[in-house]
Amino acid sequence: ASRIPLVAGNWKMNFDHREATYFVQKLAWLLRDARFDYHACEVALMPSFTSLRSVQVLVEADRLKIRYGAQAVSVTTQGAFTGDVSADMLAALGCTYVIVGHSERRKYHPEDDANIVDQVRAVLAAGMKPILCVGESFEERRQGIELDFAVGQVHDVTRDLSSDQAAELVIAYEPVWAIGTGMVATPQSAQEAAQAIRADLAATFDEDVAERVRILYGGSVTSKNAVELIGEPDVDGFLIGGAALDPDELSLIARLT
Ligand code: G3H
Repeated sequence: ASRIPLVAGNWKMNFDHREATYFVQKLAWLLRDARFDYHACEVALMPSFTSLRSVQVLVEADRLKIRYGAQAVSVTTQGAFTGDVSADMLAALGCTYVIVGHSERRKYHPEDDANIVDQVRAVLAAGMKPILCVGESFEERRQGIELDFAVGQVHDVTRDLSSDQAAELVIAYEPVWAIGTGMVATPQSAQEAAQAIRADLAATFDEDVAERVRILYGGSVTSKNAVELIGEPDVDGFLIGGAALDPDELSLIARLT
């Protein structure tokens, strides 16, 4: 496919701005040392809000090709919303991506489908790309309805978007049972889910949109399982949690992708 793979590290609630700065410097050095080709694979980091400005300053000063983004965003543009961060604020920090609907946000915050659609719209309106997270829990997998569930989550968010908006999406298929557990999905089941999601995009929009959207796999990705997973035709990269906290491991995964 013509899609450029994306390796995105979701740091979740780890690293203060000093640790983030050190990490980015080390990762950039490792990739430079390995003559990493950023045109062949995009690398992105999702730090905490508090680290974004430090990452921006470093990326701009050293002209790094590492991209970055946020882990969530407010659905409103400005005003009396204590503690929220707007999409325009993130865009002003040079963010390329914003994770939307991560299972941890769906669980610990009131992020339902309506809120997730609004976040997607806010991210797009500010000129960034949403990384929309979907994926079944163990219970849905036990019932054998995992594909319908994940496709349904995508469909509920995308159906009200225009084709142009949908084409900007990145979708991360992250089975909840695989997140942080060491139980990675098999390449076959990651492919099945990615393929089913792409087929739904083709049905809702058209083949062109379906072919443009990158579909990542997430859940216990490491350098040990990345090669097999990326070998699948509809898996266009990874959203990585635990393994993205180690610059050596993350650079190795990027080089293998
Ligand atoms: O956003 C990342 C995912 O939740 C995966 O986390 O690689 O630690 O399993 P993990």
